[in-house]
Amino acid sequence: MREIRIAIIGTGLISHRHMKVWSQIPGANVIAGCDIDETKLQSWGERYDISDLYTDYRKLLERDDIDAVDVCVHNNLHVPLSIAAMRAGMHCYCEKPMAGSYADAKLLYSAQEVYNRKLAVQISSIFNLQSRMARDMVANGELGHVYHARSIGHRRLGRPGVDMQNFSPDFYSAEIGGHGPIFDLGVYRISQMLFIMGIPKLESVYGAAYHGIEIDERLLHGNKYEVEDLGVGLAKYEGGLTLDILESWAIHIDQIGPNMIVGSKGGLKIIAPDTYGGQLSNEELFLKNPQELEFFGIDNGRMVDKKMNVLLNHRSEIAANPRMALYNDNQRHWMAYLTGELDNETRYDTPWLALQTALVSEGIFLSQQLGRSLTAEEIDDLSTSTAVRKQETPWGVFEYDF
Ligand SMILES: NC(=O)c1ccc[n+]([C@@H]2O[C@H](COP(=O)([O-])OP(=O)(O)OC[C@H]3O[C@@H](n4cnc5c(N)ncnc54)[C@H](O)[C@@H]3O)[C@@H](O)[C@H]2O)c1
Repeated sequence: MREIRIAIIGTGLISHRHMKVWSQIPGANVIAGCDIDETKLQSWGERYDISDLYTDYRKLLERDDIDAVDVCVHNNLHVPLSIAAMRAGMHCYCEKPMAGSYADAKLLYSAQEVYNRKLAVQISSIFNLQSRMARDMVANGELGHVYHARSIGHRRLGRPGVDMQNFSPDFYSAEIGGHGPIFDLGVYRISQMLFIMGIPKLESVYGAAYHGIEIDERLLHGNKYEVEDLGVGLAKYEGGLTLDILESWAIHIDQIGPNMIVGSKGGLKIIAPDTYGGQLSNEELFLKNPQELEFFGIDNGRMVDKKMNVLLNHRSEIAANPRMALYNDNQRHWMAYLTGELDNETRYDTPWLALQTALVSEGIFLSQQLGRSLTAEEIDDLSTSTAVRKQETPWGVFEYDF
């Protein structure tokens, strides 16, 4: 197994989940970390016994013995730091969402080719048998002519940084986070449904975004809450296929969902998509919330409801073909792409999927602004960059050039 030397940029909350997964992947060797918060960086270094620590990413990127970076900073910093790393010759694994706007996601997408580097975006919801099984059933025609799908998710009161105080207020800042639940959590479900639908071509989007729920100012500690708490949309794809979207991280209702896809011969209910990072990141959640598929259709003229136990099928799939482990975890998948175990034909193209997710998501916000539906071409024309170009840090002002 070839060793891949990795540096983490951003040693905050999510970096720990990544570290847990890296530690289980043969050949993955995290040798350096970078954060502008020196205290956080030092304790991260001590925890993982890593002494190559940088407060200035430019110094880290000068090294010529690092193969790849894992970008764990906030949304509007994904593009500046990922592009800087690829320009410096490193492959890049970027946290979701790909960017804070479609325009920026496009820049990152093209940077792979410009700098001839391998890019992946974290989308744990497609790296499991549930998504593959549903995708294959759609592709094999088991649902007949597919005409509608739903991407839906909510938390009752689960705004990161507000109701979940251990999360950074950057999650609700327009400048750093960019958007709320549509970009933060919706990405998992929208990407999963697009993957299952075969990533069709978007035609148009109509949508709305609300800061609807009352907020207790004491929970903000002087910060401003600047993003939506509910986003809804209806997207039309080629061939007449529609996708309705609803994503909220604070709403006064107990249950919404789950995701579904329906066709002329059958429908699928998609239960418990993975938004926690996969089996390697959280074995307990993986076993506690088994992802399941339920099929509803007609068999010999009789209505049938079939429950497919994804967890048991997952075990037998791996037993029969251990190579499928490469398709059950984001980071394992990207490593296999870097080492050549997977190539452009056999890997999941997460940058393309993330870009298509950004396109429909941004359509919701532009539709809210303009009060009408927009075509995909209009979204492409009207989307503007929100990525951070200048960042004040304790180590001076970082100017990003991308
Ligand atoms: N926290 C989660 O559970 C979770 C889950 C999935 C995805 N994510 C995604 O991960 C990203 C980070 O989230 P988080 O919760 O870890 O945030 P966080 O605030 O805990 O960590 C981000 C870190 O980036 C550092 N940083 C900022 N600018 C930097 C720079 N120029 N160079 C180096 N470091 C810099 C910050 O100091 C901070 O320590 C977000 O895009 C989020 O959507 C988070």
